[in-house]
Amino acid sequence: MRTLDDLFGTGVAGRQVLVRADLNVPIEDGAIGDDGRIRASLPSLNRLRAHGARLLVAAHLGRPDGRDPAMSLAPVAQRLGELLGTEVPISDAPPGGDGEVAMLENIRFDPRETSKDDAERDALASELAALVGPDGAFVSDGFGVVHRKQASVYDIAHKLPAYAGDLIVKEIKVLRKLADPVVLEPPYTVLLGGSKVSDKMGVIEALLPKVDALLVGGGMCFTFIAALGFEVGDSLLEPDYIEACERFMETDKVLFPTDVVIAKDVSPDAETQIVAVESIPDGYKGLDIGPETISGFAEVLEFSRTVFWNGPMGVFELPPFAAGTEAVAQAVAKVGISVVGGGDSAAAIRQLGLDESAYTHISTGGGASLEYLEGKELPGLAVLEDE
Ligand code: 3PG
Repeated sequence: MRTLDDLFGTGVAGRQVLVRADLNVPIEDGAIGDDGRIRASLPSLNRLRAHGARLLVAAHLGRPDGRDPAMSLAPVAQRLGELLGTEVPISDAPPGGDGEVAMLENIRFDPRETSKDDAERDALASELAALVGPDGAFVSDGFGVVHRKQASVYDIAHKLPAYAGDLIVKEIKVLRKLADPVVLEPPYTVLLGGSKVSDKMGVIEALLPKVDALLVGGGMCFTFIAALGFEVGDSLLEPDYIEACERFMETDKVLFPTDVVIAKDVSPDAETQIVAVESIPDGYKGLDIGPETISGFAEVLEFSRTVFWNGPMGVFELPPFAAGTEAVAQAVAKVGISVVGGGDSAAAIRQLGLDESAYTHISTGGGASLEYLEGKELPGLAVLEDE
């Protein structure tokens, strides 16, 4: 892969560069919740600016169905501008001065961005390439979106000289260590949570042979608990995946909760109880892992040298169900090599006010990091290797 240093070697001052970033951050009522992805985009942008490039940033927000003012990137451009210390206007054209930055409006407002039709995506990629002209270049730095075969991620790399940005290089360097048994430092523990076991099938299949322990919490643990033959009340359950969970549990590497926090409803003032997993009553939902499980998981993590964590242990957004996620986040931070998959687990660390610097790496890519560890080919990376 060619990197920013290769681009700088060709001389970038005064040239127009299209940068694909993943700035897909949570926004509520126009206010940005967790700006981690915006901050993660700064190193590449700052280096490019320092070399005098004129930057046009392409990014998406959510999954809009056509043009939708509620999904405008304007608040993101504003925040990026504050962090860069320069104004970042939303614009269809690159800025006129060296080191300046402009941002395209949500690239997914154009349905060709995500089209399954190669010709449609190709046409949009040609238009994007034309924006930066024949002397332009493309920098791919949106790690969180490299698993998508989309016009501004994949097709564009066929139209312009393409380079991997610093964030992509950093993410791959860490994730490669978790995927390669030669450099992996055991004992290796993977901690998975989040609501759906169906989303994690591929990664469980791929990682089970490589790990020493697989700890399962979050909404997805109830399908495992059902696979043990226990009732799960109104907890999240994916009956179609019970058989797969039974198969995973044939190895003694999979550890799941022994107790859970239950409540009748998911609310900030819910009345909670702690019960053994074999005693979840009808009408109750399991919404966090219990104290006995927390200490069991913490003990396994204490003896681990490497950990990958993806997915919260409970509904951490609400205080009655946050203890499990907070406790494992603290235990993960103490492991020698601690890698946090993006999305909700990264958001949990920030929302719970934990020290981000205690982790070896917090990925900006939820889906992308899982697919990478699954061993899937990620189109947005493969295309940079081809070029
Ligand atoms: C993400 O949030 O995981 C990335 O920005 C990709 O978004 P998508 O899942 O809508 O493609």
